[in-house]
Amino acid sequence: MTAALRNVELKTRDADPEATLRRALALGASDEGVLRQRDTYFARARGRLKLREQEPGGAQLISYRRADGAQARTSAYRIADVADPAALREALDASLGTRVVVDKRRHLLLYENVRIHLDDVEGLGAFVELEAVAAPDSDLTREHELVARLRDELALGDPVAVSYSDLLLDRPEALLAAADEVMRSAHAPYSQFRVGAALRTPSGAIHVGANVENVAYPQGQCAEASAIGALIAAGEREISAVAVVAEKLDVCPPCGGCRQRLSEFASADTPVYLGRPGGPLHVTTIGELLPLAFEESALG
Ligand code: THU
Repeated sequence: MTAALRNVELKTRDADPEATLRRALALGASDEGVLRQRDTYFARARGRLKLREQEPGGAQLISYRRADGAQARTSAYRIADVADPAALREALDASLGTRVVVDKRRHLLLYENVRIHLDDVEGLGAFVELEAVAAPDSDLTREHELVARLRDELALGDPVAVSYSDLLLDRPEALLAAADEVMRSAHAPYSQFRVGAALRTPSGAIHVGANVENVAYPQGQCAEASAIGALIAAGEREISAVAVVAEKLDVCPPCGGCRQRLSEFASADTPVYLGRPGGPLHVTTIGELLPLAFEESALG
């Protein structure tokens, strides 16, 4: 297994990539050239599973769990070299599904032991990442100092704490696409009204569910309830964003019961996206959908 590596890292948006490049070169950073990287993240995987295809370079399948907290790095991961990435990508997509693809152009510079990434990420824009690779015996003081110094010298802005894949997944379109896909599996022979729900969690996962009707009508279950069941079965307890898609309605507001069900695992400001991929989008929050909610605190 690959040994654990420690980094001190910082990511910020980059308002002026050309100026950042000029500043980095002026500091004496070496220019290591441009890489194209495509990371395909697969769905229905435990933790995260991604295929990285890099040009120049090769392809690797990487499985990892994201550590909690903005500063902590990946603590457990496995890497396998891949000889035929296109075939593997298609096979994993066919059996697991693709959660998100991160496509980027990376201009790599090196300053001492700090990797400077000038990234242009499709769908997100320009970012700078600083990655100080720590020596095994380092107490990280020097790495923190170097990153802080470079942050000043390169005039970087506020840190962005989440990964590119999370930034992409947090866009409403990603959740709506997941809800739309699962909607096609709905069992709705009585109402002919198919609904899909997708729930994003802080772990990075998206849990989905569709409505399940029954010939004894009251036994039917809404899409949101099915998705909550999947989230609980996966060992999770927190919803960070919700999407609901219905086949026959541009905007399908969750029923009253589901507003209560969702609020059990969400907070008042949790975003709720109602719409269909490519259609009109209604953005609201759990708090707007369920004002004056009956909450745990009411139990005393
Ligand atoms: N339905 C949902 O799945 N979620 C909602 O929030 C609204 C209604 C389903 C239940 C039933 O299977 C069908 O839509 C028609 O009411």
